Amino acid sequence: MAKEIKTIGVLTSGGDAPGMNAAIRAVVRQAIVKGKKVKGIKRGYAGLLQEEIADMQACDVSDIIQRGGTILQTARCKEFTTAEGQQLGAEICRKHDIDGVIVIGGDGSFKGAQKLASLGINTIGIPGTIDLDIACTEYTIGFDTAVNTAMEAIDKVRDTSTSHERCSIIEVMGRGAGYIALWCGIANGAEDILLPEKYNYDEQALVNNIIANRKKGKKHHIVINAEGIGHSASMAKRIESATGVETRATILGHMQRGGSPTCKDRVYASTMGAYAVDLLCQGKSNRVVGYRDGEYVDFDIDEALAMHKEISDYQFEICRNLSL
Ligand code: ADP
Ligand code: F6P
Repeated sequence: MAKEIKTIGVLTSGGDAPGMNAAIRAVVRQAIVKGKKVKGIKRGYAGLLQEEIADMQACDVSDIIQRGGTILQTARCKEFTTAEGQQLGAEICRKHDIDGVIVIGGDGSFKGAQKLASLGINTIGIPGTIDLDIACTEYTIGFDTAVNTAMEAIDKVRDTSTSHERCSIIEVMGRGAGYIALWCGIANGAEDILLPEKYNYDEQALVNNIIANRKKGKKHHIVINAEGIGHSASMAKRIESATGVETRATILGHMQRGGSPTCKDRVYASTMGAYAVDLLCQGKSNRVVGYRDGEYVDFDIDEALAMHKEISDYQFEICRNLSL
């Protein structure tokens, strides 16, 4: 019979994402409603190993649903990737009577959760990353806010780019994934998008497109460059000398990770937080919450980590077609 969970620990790990606070709030309050105790673990796995653990009450998550970042702080922790670190983490959970842990983070964080589960601590992962690069789910906490932040910033760059009749290379985040770049490509009407999943490093094709568009009378040329390709400043110099079109590079950077979460991020993060608590209450472990085909779902972490996700060829193609 599955063991009954009495105390739930919650942590955020890896890069922060807007909406993580909404998820923390939901975990704490749903757990209390279900008669569980909750402990907040600060600074991800690093804080677990340092025993930065404190009881959380309903009022500790007041006034945070609208705030970006994570009140639990976050970290990347090398020590937790070792067998000794993981063993120590499980022992610390037991010492603090934590029998279930909810991990809000990306694939790396889920690997940590998987290890804790194998050491007898029930774990549930919630996808929290602006990169949207978790294969088992169509939604990750923070992507919606980040992509809207990037879209608004790109609109502003476009204004000045048009006034000066320039080409603008705008670099967006996403680590090895091109989802923010693809969505902004469509939403901002970019002339070109460079995605790690699709780019063939044919810079001459880019140069030809800029020259052709200039001949057609276009007053700007917006190139959205995914971080996974990078080197926007040197690319801008090469493009300017090859095309004769004045070119500037803008790297949006960490502004994409901040700010008040959108309604979508608040609602999905809240639902996933509550859903994760319900899974623990049902005795489940080593699961990751996802959203697919209009439903909240959950997968075995091992299976989730083995899944692959592809950029839509159709969306990639229409992005180019629509900027004709
Ligand atoms: P994300 O969760 O956003 O993918 P990272 O890849 O940086 O971010 O992972 C966050 C943290 O998860 C790492 O700093 C580490 O503590 C933990 N982690 C990553 N990979 C593993 C692993 N293979 N085993 C155990 N813990 C891991
Ligand atoms: O995973 C989220 C993310 O913002 C990526 O898009 C980016 O590559 C990375 O984190 C940046 O990490 P850091 O905050 O350590 O610079």
